[in-house]
Amino acid sequence: MKKLEVELCGIRMKNPLMLAAGVLGISPSLLKRVADAGAGAVVTKSLGVEQREGFSGPVLVDLGYGLLNAMGLPNPGVREFCRELEEFGEIGVPVVASIYGFSVEEYVEAAAYAERYVDAVELNVSCPHVEKVGVQFGQSPELLREVVEAVRSAIRKPVFVKLTPNVTNIAEMAVIAEDAGADAVVAINTVRGLAINPELRRPELSAVFGGLSGPAIKPIALRCVYEIYQRVNIPVVGCGGVSTWRDAVEFLMAGASAVQIGSAVYYRGVSVFSEISRGLAEFLNSSEFSSVEELVGIAHRST
Ligand code: SIN
Repeated sequence: MKKLEVELCGIRMKNPLMLAAGVLGISPSLLKRVADAGAGAVVTKSLGVEQREGFSGPVLVDLGYGLLNAMGLPNPGVREFCRELEEFGEIGVPVVASIYGFSVEEYVEAAAYAERYVDAVELNVSCPHVEKVGVQFGQSPELLREVVEAVRSAIRKPVFVKLTPNVTNIAEMAVIAEDAGADAVVAINTVRGLAINPELRRPELSAVFGGLSGPAIKPIALRCVYEIYQRVNIPVVGCGGVSTWRDAVEFLMAGASAVQIGSAVYYRGVSVFSEISRGLAEFLNSSEFSSVEELVGIAHRST
């Protein structure tokens, strides 16, 4: 049997498949369900310093080829989430806390609190539809540098930075994140989009704009991973439309050291993790590669 295990910033994972932020990560019991279903690691719903209700509905529309969401970052607040996590006990796989803030100070406060309970933090600087939080940081080279430097110097655990595709040059932003001390970058968060209901004559989402995820954005995400891999030396985690083992292999070959899965969990349930890891194992077994790590970035070497 070939090796599915990977190591990401010192974190050992039994396979390269991670639950993406925002999907099922709102409670420890759901994280455990995903871990038991075969994920190599899990990322929480984005957590802030204060509890947030999120937007009122509709917050999600299934377009068939992808999901458009504007949940509004609902979460119980980092302290309450960490209390529940501690009370719950072992999740069984590494846990990454996704963190957002309305200011650099809030990112630092939430990350510093969370790091005691998790294996790494992932800075959400890329939510495309909540005002003054997220994408404002990820679209500004100065703010991105400031927030990554501040969190990096405040905590000891690995810092991942989840980048937005809603910029002119995502590889430039990855270089800035690396330079500011990020241990890994995650590419990509959702693509800002809009859906209109012709019968109701109004936008489908209460927040009007939302973030598009799922199969529709896979080629965009793959292109971003490929471009970033050429520019940075830190690991890249691929995210965006991974639904099958072939998608996972494409991301690994483009340069991802691991992949995150989000919308496919909505479409197919948590069994998607065991299905993809089985497919990945079969692909490796029928190839000359002896580990997942050997696949990483291989598409660059053949061009
Ligand atoms: C949301 O809660 O609205 C989604 C968060 C994100 O896209 O980062």
